[in-house]
Order: sequence, then structure tokens, then C-alpha cells
Amino acid sequence: MSNIMEINNRKTFAIISHPDAGKTTLTEKLLLFSGAIKIAGAVKSNKIKKAAASDFLEIEKQRGISVATSVLSFNYNDHKINLLDTPGHKDFAEDTYRTLTAVDSVILVIDCVKGVEEQTEKLMQVCRMRNTPVMIFINKLDREGKDPVELLDELESKLSIKVRPLTYPLGMGYQFRGVYNIYKNSFDFYSVNKTKIEDDVVVFEGLQDKGLDDKFGTDAQKLRHDVELIDGIYENFSIEEYLNGNLAPVFFGSAINNFGVKELLDTFIEIAPSPTNREITNGTVKPVDKNFSGFVFKIHSNLDPKHRDRIAFLRVCSGKFERNKFYLHVRLNRQLKFANPASFMAQSKSLLEEAFPGDVIGLYDSGIFNIGDTLTEGEGFMFKGIPRFSPEVFRIVRNTDPFKSKQMEKGIQHLTDEGLAQLFVQNYGNKKVVGVVGELQFDVLKYRLLNEYGASIDFVTMPAYKAFWLKYENKNDIQDLLNIRSHSLYNDKNGNLVFIADTDFSLKMAMDKNPNVKFLSSIEHNDQTILMGDVA
Ligand code: G4P
Repeated sequence: MSNIMEINNRKTFAIISHPDAGKTTLTEKLLLFSGAIKIAGAVKSNKIKKAAASDFLEIEKQRGISVATSVLSFNYNDHKINLLDTPGHKDFAEDTYRTLTAVDSVILVIDCVKGVEEQTEKLMQVCRMRNTPVMIFINKLDREGKDPVELLDELESKLSIKVRPLTYPLGMGYQFRGVYNIYKNSFDFYSVNKTKIEDDVVVFEGLQDKGLDDKFGTDAQKLRHDVELIDGIYENFSIEEYLNGNLAPVFFGSAINNFGVKELLDTFIEIAPSPTNREITNGTVKPVDKNFSGFVFKIHSNLDPKHRDRIAFLRVCSGKFERNKFYLHVRLNRQLKFANPASFMAQSKSLLEEAFPGDVIGLYDSGIFNIGDTLTEGEGFMFKGIPRFSPEVFRIVRNTDPFKSKQMEKGIQHLTDEGLAQLFVQNYGNKKVVGVVGELQFDVLKYRLLNEYGASIDFVTMPAYKAFWLKYENKNDIQDLLNIRSHSLYNDKNGNLVFIADTDFSLKMAMDKNPNVKFLSSIEHNDQTILMGDVA
């Protein structure tokens, strides 16, 4: 098959949702419909009910080899679909943000009872930043939920995106009768745990078809009224608007009952984008470009504790990746070849000979990769748009077993390379501070240091309000910070200078006294413009 055909055949996406909306269930149903798995229950839930590290890791283990569930590739109607898994817990949201940089579109799952929830809003902000095309699946229609029009309103107002329902439900909960496909003028009848999909779909000749009255009696009028109302309120669906990230098509269904899932999958195959262009430091890379390029968006250490292996997940962006061929690791300016790259098919991992744009490959990594690293066939560019956000909670790391200092150093290096937490080292001292988005990350860090490296640490709370990366032209710009506020200056892992403010007041003071310095709450992994923190 030619490269262009390989590219057009691929769809790389993620499913995002607030925990419990039904992401795992929908994932499983997509795999069932595609034939990639045969029985329900094969995909383990990744939600964490109790916020303890051991639970989290236990759940990770139960999910099977996490590596296999990080990417689920399957075939459907002659397409290769790469579904990138994202953690369910909000404390691991950064991992999700990074994964979203590697997809071409997303499916957002909403619980019809709860509507738009907090985590949904945050995830959508990241999609909006990147203009990622979004499809919405409103789930759990077998339950008594919010009114569909109210839900559509809420989506538009809270997520700042235009929506266009492509199906519309008749009834909900016990009264749920199915969904009307507005564009195909067909009705899909709901039944619990649906299996024979095609048998239950009836096509009508438009809303005025008398057949509707025969089927639904007095409910036919309600359906006509609702669909006409929807047609009046929402502009026609435009694929272009969807692909630009401005308009989200909406589907209604019940994942647990296999209802509405096939419709979603079929439309997804029809309209979701194939691998798209990617921004680089000096322009754009197109999937059809002849030379191979790709970037690392995720790293996972010690998947198999016996082998201490570490895998870097690389998204292919252009050309063709081949096993055992030399590629340039741009940041290190080193030529590397990979003898055992891995591909992921449904739940198993296998040796890969070649990969095309949109594919995700697993590279065994001896510690040479950072998130955001770029591989090319010799060109010196880096991929842009892989964000790092300022953490929200900070703790000082205290080594509680001096005989294991080396192990601790190594473990912290590895685990922060993964992005499990961010490490800051005091500019004029050796104080190590770990910053995270949510408390659970501290527990996981401590647990993994002990279990995977034999190192024992404690965390000491520290007064910290927020951390900011500092951007400045020259050393004079930061004289006040160096002289008066040096205790608040830290270096991140890349040597960038970071200011950790104790309070809102100290932040304001620092900003006032250092007017030529920019205080940034997010930067890009490959941002070359930040000055290095070598200021001592
Ligand atoms: P998540 O990955 O987004 O966190 O959600 P998950 O799929 O695990 O679903 C959360 C809960 O919602 C599960 O119930 C699941 O069975 C249920 N669920 C998913 N889809 C539907 C649906 O269409 N209708 C209804 N009524 N429920 C749905 P649970 O009791 O928390 O877990 P389990 O014991 O069923 O696994």
C-alpha cells in the first residue's frame, strides 16, 4: 500500500470524559464492534475510587500490561484506528494533556444525568487550544437525565464550542424509545443490551412520514416538534467546521447497552480526520512528507519490574518509520536505531517493522528520551505544542534512608522524566521540591520509589502558592530576584529558572520589582526561547 493510502486509512484519537461518565465502557464497546475483542469485561476500568497510591497501582496492574492499554489499535471497515488511552483520575490530568498532543481528534463522553462536569471543561480547554476536532457522545440515556435541549445548551456555554446534534432521543430513562437520525431520517429503536443492530433501524421519508404515527402514536408529534426545533436552533452540520475544531457533532446513546455506539463509530470513520499537519520550530510537517519524523509524548518506566525497562511512546508524524534504520535524536544530536520497536494491537504488543503517520510506537529507552523529544531523518527541527503546566501543590523531598541516596536520585530522575511530577532544585542550594497537580501523585511517587528503586522518602510541606517559569533577556533583568528573592528561585530539569512564590503577595512584589521578566504559568517542552537558569 502506498504511504498516502496508509495515511488516509488511519484515525488516531482519544476518548475523554469526567471520571465515571463511561469512557471505559465506550472504549470496550468500540473494541467489541470492531471485533478486536470478543467478550465484554476485557477492558479494565481505570477509575480510582479510593485515593491511595497502592489502589492506583493495583488498578494499573489489573488493567493488564499498562503498555498495551496505553494504545489500542484496531481495524474497522478497512481503517486502522489508534485509540490513545488517557488516565481517568484528575490528578493525572497532565498525562492526558500530553496525550492529547498526539491525537488528531477526540470523542468526548458526557453523562446525561450530570451534564458538563469540571474535568470535562479542563480537557476541552486543551482541545480548544489546539483546535482539535471533537465529537460528543451523550451517554446513559437509559437513565432519567437532564433535558436534551438543556444539555446541548450547557455544552455550548460551558465548553465554548458550537454543537450540532446528528441524532435526537425520544424519551429517557424508562421512557427511552431510541434515537432519530436527523440526517438519515431513520429511527434506531432502543432495547436493553442491544446486539442485533440493523434489525431495529427503520427508515422514514422525512418527519412528515405517516409511518412515524404508526410506530409512535402520540409520541410522533413530540418527536416532530423536537427535531424541528433542533433544526431551527442549530445550523446545518458542516464537516469543515468540525475539522477546524469549531463545531462538535452530538450523538445520544447508552454505551453499556451498546446503543448508539455503532452510529458513533460509523460517523467517526466517515468524518474524523486522518493524520494532520504538525507545527515544528520552523514551519509545519505534513504526514505526506517523504522523510520520517515523530515526537515522544509519553514515557513509562519499569513496566515490567523484572526487566527495569522503560518505554518512550512516539507518535509518527511524517514519512515511514523502519526498524533498524538510523534516525536523528535532535536534542542530543545523536543517530540512533531501534532493534525492537513495539506496536500495539488491541491488547497485545508485538515487534514492529514499519509504522506510518498517525501510528504510535513504543521504543525501548535506556534513559535518553524526554517528553517532547523529536526523531527525524537528519533535519534539526523540534515539534511544538507539547505543554507543561505549572504544578499546583509542592512538597520538599526528604531522604529517609541515607544508604539509598543514589537509588533515590535515580528514581526521582526517572519518574520525573515520565512526567509523574515536576522536579525543581533550589538555585543556590540543593533543596529538591516536587510539584504536582494532585495529591495522589505524591503517594504514587513515594510508592514507586520504594517498590521500584528501594528508596525511601518523605515529603515536607512547604508554603508555596504557585510556580512560574521566568523569561528574561539578560542577567540584569533578574538582579532583584537574585539579590532579594534567591530562596524562591529554582531550576527545573532542563535548567530553566523558576520562581516559586510563597503567597499571592510575594508574587505581586516580585512582578513589580522585576518588570522586564515574564512570569509564565505554562511553557512548551521544547521551548528554546526560555533563558537557561545558569545565573549564579
Ligand atoms: P469512566 O471510564 O469514564 O470512569 O466510566 P466507566 O465506563 O467505568 O463507567 C462508569 C459507570 O457507569 C460504570 O458503573 C458503568 O457500568 C456505568 N455506565 C457506563 N455506561 C452506562 C450507560 O449507558 N448506562 C448506565 N446506566 N450506566 C453506564 P459502575 O457501577 O461504577 O461500575 P461497574 O460495576 O458497572 O463496572
